[in-house]
Amino acid sequence: MGEYVKVAKTSEIAPGTVKYVEVQSNPIALFNLNGNFYAIGNTCTHRGGPLAEGLIAGDEVTCPWHGARYKIPTGEVLGPPAPMGVPQYNLRVQGDDIEVEV
Ligand code: FES
Repeated sequence: MGEYVKVAKTSEIAPGTVKYVEVQSNPIALFNLNGNFYAIGNTCTHRGGPLAEGLIAGDEVTCPWHGARYKIPTGEVLGPPAPMGVPQYNLRVQGDDIEVEV
């Protein structure tokens, strides 16, 4: 069990958007999908592309560099060229605060 760290306000991330945060040296992409928040590793496992700058479609994000696709709620990889998924982080909303477990 890690500790929950406050990383953002819910109002900072509109539905359908994403925000990059760094939590204790972990690069994390925070997504809002229809009001539900998710946190996964920001760094694409192919060549390190920034998933927080990727295109969101449904519950998938596409890496902006070479097009690998990831499932936002789990971090699993859905399409090449990325060889594996990215970490998924537990997240909770406390009032207006988004907290991620690291
Ligand atoms: S760095 Fe993400 S697909 Fe290449």
